Amino acid sequence: HETETPSLRTPIVAVLGHVDHGKTSLLDKIRGSTVIEGEAGAITQHIGATAVPLDIVSKVAGKLVSPDDFDLPGLLFIDTPGHHSFTTLRSRGGALADIAILVVDVNDGFQPQTEEAINILAQSQTPFVVAANKIDTTPGWNPNPDSPIKATYDAQSDRARSMLDQNLYELIGELSDAGFSADLYWRVQNFQNNIGVVPVSAETGEGVPDLLTVLMGLAQRYMREDMEIDVTGPGAGTVLEVKEEKGFGTTLDVVLYDGTVGADETIVVGGKNAPIVTDVRALLKPRPLAEIRTEDRFEKVDSIGAAAGVKIAAPDLDDAMAGAPVRVVRDREIDDVIEEVEAELAEVEVSTAEEGIVVKADTLGSLEAMVSTLKEEEIPVMLAEVGDVAPRDIRFATTADEPKHRTILAFNVDTLAEAGDEAEQRDVRLFDSDVIYQLIEEYEEYVDEMER
Ligand code: GTP
Ligand code: MG
Repeated sequence: HETETPSLRTPIVAVLGHVDHGKTSLLDKIRGSTVIEGEAGAITQHIGATAVPLDIVSKVAGKLVSPDDFDLPGLLFIDTPGHHSFTTLRSRGGALADIAILVVDVNDGFQPQTEEAINILAQSQTPFVVAANKIDTTPGWNPNPDSPIKATYDAQSDRARSMLDQNLYELIGELSDAGFSADLYWRVQNFQNNIGVVPVSAETGEGVPDLLTVLMGLAQRYMREDMEIDVTGPGAGTVLEVKEEKGFGTTLDVVLYDGTVGADETIVVGGKNAPIVTDVRALLKPRPLAEIRTEDRFEKVDSIGAAAGVKIAAPDLDDAMAGAPVRVVRDREIDDVIEEVEAELAEVEVSTAEEGIVVKADTLGSLEAMVSTLKEEEIPVMLAEVGDVAPRDIRFATTADEPKHRTILAFNVDTLAEAGDEAEQRDVRLFDSDVIYQLIEEYEEYVDEMER
């Protein structure tokens, strides 16, 4: 399907939101509807992603989407587990995702990871829609499975409708407090200036046709120029995760956003110390419709084209970083490609000072987001690195002149046992969290206390 319309790439859609708000269920619903339609094979399961071709999108969307109105090949959805930082989702010059769905439980409203997600969508200027999920849990709701929202909304009791309305208006208020003018999607004229809110249920499928329609519209209207790329050129992608895989050693889960990669090609990958040059040993895809997180058996493929998720097995990947660029060398000079990777790594702005705190994060993207937020707060950073907190980080933190800087902020990483002990012995304060702004708030409160 990727090659159906060779000049246009599949738009990449990131699915973001707070833990348990229904990201995976929503994708399962989109997949599941097509299983019922007997079209399971058409949907391709990728590493960390699901590709839904245009004809399936239009089938699920029913009357709302006609394939004739669109010339995009479909949509590639990237699921981001709530505990995992989707700030990994960066690419050359910006956001890896072309558009995003921010999933919010309509009863719960904004939660810490919702705020985190929206900040990063704003920073990266990624167009997005809000899926106000779990509308079926509205008291007195009478479900109409897979119905477009208007029909099922009209069919509800006044009481259920007004309960839902109240939740939706609260959500729109929260979006407005976060600096986004938003409204129910059918009232939005210009999706560039206003965020559309789509009421949905991942459980019953209500509103899912509308969501797909809005996404296709967004992609078609605002992403066209980005899509027109050379889809047959040497591949470019981003590492989502670095993972040990039985029988394959260290492997990379990669989202390929440009070009193609072949099973025997030389690649350059951003590493902790220097770019890694290595030869692909195998390109792996999950078996059709298998659940990625529990599935450990893969299918080898000879080559794969953007946009796609793929697992790359190759030697020497131990130092590869989540969030780092991957480039296929093909007929170019290796040195030029290494330079390109170095330049992209340098673009991740993690400028440090002589005096300041130590920052550790799980991916390049989250490190970048942390350092830029700290800069806004005028908190100096002496060391910023991807990886777990190790004893040498503690020793480094002790070299800060000011006591308030003898601190480590750790985002979404582990602290090695010896490092924890050493921090205590050497009086280094360690803060960890999986929400960036909470981490920074905690640190600021600590400094306030100290200076009082
Ligand atoms: P993480 O990956 O852990 O961040 O969570 P998630 O956002 O992927 O949430 P997930 O899809 O796992 O859903 C969390 C729980 O909410 C599950 O028990 C789902 O069955 C339930 N759920 C999700 N969407 C809906 C919905 O629309 N209606 C109802 N009633 N339950 C839902
Ligand atoms: Mg999930």
